[in-house]
Amino acid sequence: MRTLAAVAISCLLLVQLANGLPVGKLRTTAAAAKVQDNPQLSGETSMEEDSDAQTPIVLFIIGELGKLAKWVLERGSVVVNNAVTELKAIPDKDELLQANITRMSRVATEAAQFKFQDDEESILKLFENMITFADMMSDYDSMPENSKLKLTLKAALENNGYNQFDNEFQQKVVNLAEKFETDFGEYFKGLTAEEKLKSAKLLQWYEEFKAETNEERKLDKFGEFFDF
Ligand SMILES: *[C@@H]1O[C@H](CO)[C@@H](O)[C@H](O)[C@H]1NC(C)=O
Repeated sequence: MRTLAAVAISCLLLVQLANGLPVGKLRTTAAAAKVQDNPQLSGETSMEEDSDAQTPIVLFIIGELGKLAKWVLERGSVVVNNAVTELKAIPDKDELLQANITRMSRVATEAAQFKFQDDEESILKLFENMITFADMMSDYDSMPENSKLKLTLKAALENNGYNQFDNEFQQKVVNLAEKFETDFGEYFKGLTAEEKLKSAKLLQWYEEFKAETNEERKLDKFGEFFDF
């Protein structure tokens, strides 16, 4: 799940960006985006205040990535917890396997117990859990393909719906990239000439993001948004 790592990095950068936003603004977003509903990209909350075209986009991305993170944690925790149950039944586990099971169990249990509330602390906690989960999956991904440990974990994960989870996740990321493309485009159309001038760099980035057709490079391009 290489993509998951990329999404987690976006979450991490969002957390940093969010920390730079006034707390009040983030709270408004949490309430407005509600993560589970459909956040709309609109300039009305902040355009007059700081005439910064990036802020509404950041808030919109937080809402959309929040929804994705929620889905990953809900579905992923079921897959991993069921795999853990299966792994625990293996007799004569060596130390490394045992350590991996313990970590999987801890991360998945925390993800499963997390209840999202509409406040800024909860959004940050959601992204933190997502990052922890993605780190774990990324460690799993980078284990040598034919090691005994990898094969053992792989069998348990795949017996419990890992491949379907991964496929659905990839599809969601593709859909999200498309949604970002459409909604950003609409948003930029609504800016005044003066605002467009101020957001020249952002618009330039958007044109490049839109033009990129390679899926992996598109994700990288998306990540560049956070460099502004
Ligand atoms: C899981 O196993 C790998 C060996 O491939 C090891 O490097 C890693 O530290 C283990 N994870 C934990 C949490 O112990």
